[in-house]
Amino acid sequence: MSHRTTRRAPSVSQDLWPAFRTAWGESAEGYDSLFGHGIHSEAEHSTWLLLLRRLLPAQEKPLRILDVGTGTGMIAILAAELGHTVTAADYSETMLEVASRKAEKFATDLDISFILSDAMLGEIEDGQFDVVICRHLLWALPYPEEVLRRWKEVCRPNGKIIVIDQLRPRVHPVRQGIRELADLLNPLIGSGDSHDGVFPKIPLHEQPLKRATSPLPIANAMRRAGLNRVQGERLPWIDLVERPAMPRLERWARRWNRYVVEGWV
Ligand SMILES: C[S@@+](CC[C@H](N)C(=O)[O-])C[C@H]1O[C@@H](n2cnc3c(N)ncnc32)[C@H](O)[C@@H]1O
Repeated sequence: MSHRTTRRAPSVSQDLWPAFRTAWGESAEGYDSLFGHGIHSEAEHSTWLLLLRRLLPAQEKPLRILDVGTGTGMIAILAAELGHTVTAADYSETMLEVASRKAEKFATDLDISFILSDAMLGEIEDGQFDVVICRHLLWALPYPEEVLRRWKEVCRPNGKIIVIDQLRPRVHPVRQGIRELADLLNPLIGSGDSHDGVFPKIPLHEQPLKRATSPLPIANAMRRAGLNRVQGERLPWIDLVERPAMPRLERWARRWNRYVVEGWV
């Protein structure tokens, strides 16, 4: 096992965070039905594959990839579909159950192992992975920079860290009103496209990346964590290919700006 220094305990609302974790588990079964979460068309599937092919370093043999906060395993399954050896980690057992069921259904020969682990990856030895990838998790964490440092440790020298996320800026009150109406109506009209309601409201200062208005805060956190050649890129074509799966009300209310930030160890 690796030796690690004791890390600063994040200053968080201790009572809210266990509820936050439970909420992920409770949203697991319906997660893939949400637009921008599960895959809803062949066009989405091939676009995500294309993006991963471009982001993953070129190498003759399969890459060893760690997908942190894998949820229902979307990125893990795509990476395994591309022939890589994937470890998919999440702190929600229910999410992992849904993910492994889905992977088995997709194909029996995917090289994926699922592990129950917090984003700090206490169970994982250092230097094991060529790539650590994470979609839609860093925004939710109270200590993103420390987590990035840890991800760097589990990568081999010259390994790569890839973070895909979407901007969740504060929106104009009218737009916010439409969004809340959409959240309210979606379950009634059967589209089930929001799960925001199940999450406890964590104070914003405890989720420092949640209201990022550009990829810059994640890029800066990566630089501070010691990563090199950090660069970010907006991914409007991902938003575009996902739009048909959005209910109309959501289309008016939301501007989801997907982006990726990558850095090297
Ligand atoms: C928004 S989902 C993203 C899932 C998946 N990466 C995707 O892109 O569809 C966030 C996932 O991170 C997990 N998660 C949240 N906080 C975590 C933490 N501190 N450690 C490990 N997993 C966490 C949740 O259980 C959930 O599965």
